[in-house]
Amino acid sequence: MKIFLDTGSLKDIETLVPLGIVDGVTTNPSLMAKESGDPKQIIKKICQLVKGPVSAEVISTDAEGMIREGRELSTLDEHVIIKLPFGKEALKACKALAEEKIKVNMTLIFSPTQALLSAKVGAAYVSPFIGRLDDISHEGMDLIEAIVDIFQNYGFPTEVLVASVRGPVHVVQAARLGADVCTCPPSVVEAMFKHPLTDIGLAKFLKDYEKSQAKV
Ligand code: E4P
Repeated sequence: MKIFLDTGSLKDIETLVPLGIVDGVTTNPSLMAKESGDPKQIIKKICQLVKGPVSAEVISTDAEGMIREGRELSTLDEHVIIKLPFGKEALKACKALAEEKIKVNMTLIFSPTQALLSAKVGAAYVSPFIGRLDDISHEGMDLIEAIVDIFQNYGFPTEVLVASVRGPVHVVQAARLGADVCTCPPSVVEAMFKHPLTDIGLAKFLKDYEKSQAKV
C-alpha cells in the first residue's frame, strides 16, 4: 500500500521524505490555507521534494472552470494530480481531463455509488473520507471494503485512496482491505513508528552493551 502525506507543510514533507516511506502527497484548500505563500508555488515545491503524485484541488464548481483550472494546475509539474470535489460537474470535468491524459483524484467520496461513477469516467483515484464517516457514527472502513470489492469485480484501474485518516489503526485496516493508497496526516505517520517495547528494548540493549564494555 502506498503512503501519501495529507499536508501542505513543506517542513513536514522535508522531514518525512528522506525516510523513504512517502509515495505522494494530498492537499486540499483547508490544508493549503494553513500555509503561507502562493499555493501554486507550494505545490511546485512539494512535487520537487516528493517526485510522486501530488493532489492539488480546484476551487471551481462548474465543469468548465474545473477543466480550465485542472489544465492550469497540471502545467505546474508532471506529478500534479487534479483533485475534483465529487458531483455531476466534476464527473463531466473528470471525463474531459482524463481524455487529455490529465489524472484526476475524485474527492469527497462518501458512498460506493459515488466511487463507481467516478471510476466510470476515468478517475485515477477516488478519495473516500473515512474519519468524517466515523465522526457521524458510520463505519468508514465499510466504505473502503465495498469500493475495493466493486473495483476488483470489474477490473477498474482507479486506485482507492483512503482519506480523512485519524490514526494508525485506520492505516492497518486500509492495508488489510487492500486499499491502494492511504493518505495520512504527518502526526499519524509519526504514530506509526512508535511502540513502547521498541524503546524499552533499545534502552536495554544499550545498557547491556555498556555493561559488557565495562568487563573488557
Ligand atoms: C485528503 O485527500 C483529504 O483532503 C483529507 O484526508 C481530509 O481529511 P479531514 O477529514 O481530516 O479533513
